[in-house]
Amino acid sequence: MIEIRPLRAEDHRENFRSGDVELDRFFHKFAGQNQFRLHIGTTYVAVKDNDILGFATVSATSISIEALPKSIKKKLPNYPLPALRLARLAVAEIAQGMGLGKQLLKAVFQIAHEMADRTGCVAVVVDAKPAAIEFYKKFGFETFEAISGTLAERPEPQLMILPLGSVPRD
Ligand SMILES: CC(C)(COP(=O)(O)OP(=O)(O)OC[C@H]1O[C@@H](n2cnc3c(N)ncnc32)[C@H](O)[C@@H]1OP(=O)(O)O)[C@@H](O)C(=O)NCCC(=O)NCCS
Repeated sequence: MIEIRPLRAEDHRENFRSGDVELDRFFHKFAGQNQFRLHIGTTYVAVKDNDILGFATVSATSISIEALPKSIKKKLPNYPLPALRLARLAVAEIAQGMGLGKQLLKAVFQIAHEMADRTGCVAVVVDAKPAAIEFYKKFGFETFEAISGTLAERPEPQLMILPLGSVPRD
């Protein structure tokens, strides 16, 4: 059974390997202090038999109305709007392709609805790595800004958005 729950200070994070060095480094070194000391983001972990097999880090953010699709844009005021940012998502190499990314995303969707009910939230936004863009599209995320610096050697993350009305409830 997979359990998805907030990261705990005593969790062993050092052995987690997703195959993405930057994501692994973030999880090993920064996820804990960001959550427990700085309060700038909360990480949810997917755990099986005490092993962490995946994580999703979220934080509150605000987006400008220009970022939103036309359909909901006209209903909203022209000032910064509250949203949930999926800052990082990774599944352990040994567990990829088994539905865990989808399960973590569902947990994030639930948080977006809770946030909407408690404090307001108009959308979930994510900075998608190029290799994960198609993954997010599967769940209805749309790109909302051209990839900047297309001439640069290193591909930039792509901003993607899922308006709250399209965020599944379960
Ligand atoms: C991208 C990632 C989070 C997906 O998690 P996962 O557990 O392997 O994916 P799941 O098994 O839940 O897949 C859910 C669906 O998405 C599809 N999918 C998974 N990864 C995909 C990808 N990179 N591109 C397109 N589709 C993808 C699956 O085929 C599956 O489709 P189905 O429901 O039709 O069968 C994971 O592969 C990972 O951690 N990759 C390395 C780090 C990374 O790129 N993170 C995202 C940073 S923005």
